[in-house]
Amino acid sequence: MPPVGDLLVRRAGRIVTNNGDPVPGPAAVSIRNGVVAWIGPDERVPWTITDAPELDADGACVLPGFVDPHTHALWAGSRREEYAARLAGESYTGGGIASTVAATTAATDDELLDLAAVRLGRMAANGTTTVEVKTGYGLDPSAELRLVGLVRRLADRVPLRVEPTLLAHVVPAGVDRSAHVAALAGLMPLAAAAGARWLDVFCDRGAFTVEEARSLLRAGAAAGLGGRLHAEQLSHTGAAGLAAETGCASADHLEHVDEAGAKAMAAAGVAGVLLPTATLSTHGGWDNARVLRDAGVTLALGTDCNPGTSWCESVPYALQLAAPLLGLTVPETIRAATAGGGAALRRPELGVLRLTHPGDLVVLAAEHEADLLAHLGAPAVRTTIVGGVPVSGARTIH
Ligand code: NIG
Ligand code: FE
Repeated sequence: MPPVGDLLVRRAGRIVTNNGDPVPGPAAVSIRNGVVAWIGPDERVPWTITDAPELDADGACVLPGFVDPHTHALWAGSRREEYAARLAGESYTGGGIASTVAATTAATDDELLDLAAVRLGRMAANGTTTVEVKTGYGLDPSAELRLVGLVRRLADRVPLRVEPTLLAHVVPAGVDRSAHVAALAGLMPLAAAAGARWLDVFCDRGAFTVEEARSLLRAGAAAGLGGRLHAEQLSHTGAAGLAAETGCASADHLEHVDEAGAKAMAAAGVAGVLLPTATLSTHGGWDNARVLRDAGVTLALGTDCNPGTSWCESVPYALQLAAPLLGLTVPETIRAATAGGGAALRRPELGVLRLTHPGDLVVLAAEHEADLLAHLGAPAVRTTIVGGVPVSGARTIH
């Protein structure tokens, strides 16, 4: 559950707001009742807000908190053998998903919650303030419903904003495809009632076809679930066009997106979520950011945190890959990791620091956001603040 508090962050070296030019330092930001109440030069902090607890940024750069719009953070078990086999030359097919399903099904609710809470704690330590969490390692409809309930409980337990998503991942072995699609469609109202906000479908070779994904997204919409799509990840299927046709908030991965798909996404206001850590391990291409940017698609960046293709809880690590490999500028990269994630989750108040918006910030362990990208592998974040409350890192409050 996101906390709500009062805080005055002083002596920032610079504040990137995504609402106009960065505020030069020394600068301050005040949060009242969890929302931004004032941003400006340090020496002009109004006396009326100096009674809040203070956090000394000590010259560090302050950014909006990272909004990670794509994770599969709820799982049990390990895929280390599969990882090692990939390094030895095997390619990723999605076949390992079944082993995570077996381990997740065998784990107790408390074990799964503990594992996921540790992962979200690492995300918070790396500057994430909002995270989307998908189900998808249950497959069987009743197992997926169990996982929706656990994501909801996770959201209540951690001090982050959590967006719960039901993921239609793959058809379980030995199950009739159309019966499975029908059973999932029937599950949607129950998933919505159990706390899911979104439906995501893995539409790809070896997963769901475009036709199956269309009928699932329609059933999700009828149950009040917003749409998202794993699209064009392992092969080109036309899923980007489907995301546009069905009004999805985002299409994600997109290594094989073409110009027509990108244009359709831009026209329909579908955000493009890029997941460079997954691209790295699946040997996907790096040209998708250019195709999407040229078409005018809003870009977002995430970790895809999952045991098969992207064991990563660090947005800074993803950004350090994204900028040079995807060919993004510093402002594009930072915006994609903050306001871009907000757009992908249809939460435009997230990732933009302006009056009345949530007081979710990151105090970097750096003087400038360019250093976050350039200083590879260094500790990236000093303090993460959600709703005006420090949830991770140094709490130098006076
Ligand atoms: O985002 N693409 C499908 N799902 C995940 C990986 C799932 C897995 O291998 O466990 C992904 O890459
Ligand atoms: Fe994914």
